[in-house]
Amino acid sequence: MIYLDYNATTPIDPRVAEAMMPYIRSEYGNPSSSHALGTRAKNAVEESRAKVAALLACKPDEIVFTSGGSESNNYIIRGVATAYKTKGNHIITSQVEHPSVLNPCKYLESLGYQVSYAPVDKYGMVRVDDIERLISDKTILVTIMHANNETGTIQPIGEIAKVCKKQGVLLHTDAAQSIGKIPVSVDDLGVDFLTVAGHKLYAPKGIGAAFVRGGITIEPLIHGAGHESGRRAGTENVVFDAALGKACEIAGIEITNNGVRELTDYFYHKLKEKFKDTIRLNGHPTQRLPNTLNIGFLGHDGHEILDNLNDVAASTGSACHSGLTTISPVLKAMGTDEGAARGAIRFSLGRFTTREEIDTAIEKLVGILL
Ligand SMILES: Cc1ncc(COP(=O)(O)O)c(C=O)c1O
Repeated sequence: MIYLDYNATTPIDPRVAEAMMPYIRSEYGNPSSSHALGTRAKNAVEESRAKVAALLACKPDEIVFTSGGSESNNYIIRGVATAYKTKGNHIITSQVEHPSVLNPCKYLESLGYQVSYAPVDKYGMVRVDDIERLISDKTILVTIMHANNETGTIQPIGEIAKVCKKQGVLLHTDAAQSIGKIPVSVDDLGVDFLTVAGHKLYAPKGIGAAFVRGGITIEPLIHGAGHESGRRAGTENVVFDAALGKACEIAGIEITNNGVRELTDYFYHKLKEKFKDTIRLNGHPTQRLPNTLNIGFLGHDGHEILDNLNDVAASTGSACHSGLTTISPVLKAMGTDEGAARGAIRFSLGRFTTREEIDTAIEKLVGILL
């Protein structure tokens, strides 16, 4: 299997698996227990928290461990909505967000909140002017993803942050796709909240984190005992917390000069060489994650290509229901033309992708499409 679907999920890095082992095998203490076994578990959780914080350049007590990207997004969006409801009832997001942002927003609409869905340009980028125009005195939160899962387009979060700051509005970014792929500093971005999803950076599925800027209190999603400083109840998942800590430590060391951008560029140039003007790049030409290539194969259906692409794992945004192909809502919001959207395949590369795998994938694509 040639795995070119790292934006869907990543394999667990063997070094991460190793870091989990003591807590699977023998270090089973409850971090709340006062005996030595408990203390060691607590230390493991806090060391991991510090490693996550180091990757985001924030303070350890600004990190809340969660079950993943979806929970972090729900916690932050619903938590702000509840905590700030006396200040206002308006939230701004974009049309290209992940369902774990769009659906909490829809849920809040059902409770009487108002949500504005900012449009995007042809590259999938939100316009800062649109955000500025949409902010009103009722706006309590702007939530815009850092990088898009389908196209890799990176949003101008730093610019949006300036606008939010000027207007006194809180800003969240869903960074599930960017953490581990590009350097991220919460202060450089200027965000108040940020979402991390562990399984996108070589930790297991079911672990994530929320950055909540110091001094801001929001309503928890899970009420119970005082875990995570009262922000998320439930006995800590020591094994997975250790995994996320290790994954973040590795990401911090290997985030640059890891060869992924070169390999992605090589893939794109080879595709251009073979397919010439019968392919389109969906997404921003430069402001894009270094591992993501969303290619529209004109005259083809994405799901048909994937069905025929034996032993290559990739994704398509188009869906086929009862013989009818529907195009991805993200590409639709970008105004991508029908052909490039129907034939869209998202290839996403990662730490373990090799040049030989890319060469084989190209051969297979040429074999079925040319
Ligand atoms: C942009 C984005 N946000 C959130 C999520 C959800 O993360 P998780 O699968 O950890 O709930 C994903 C995962 O696909 C994602 O790509």
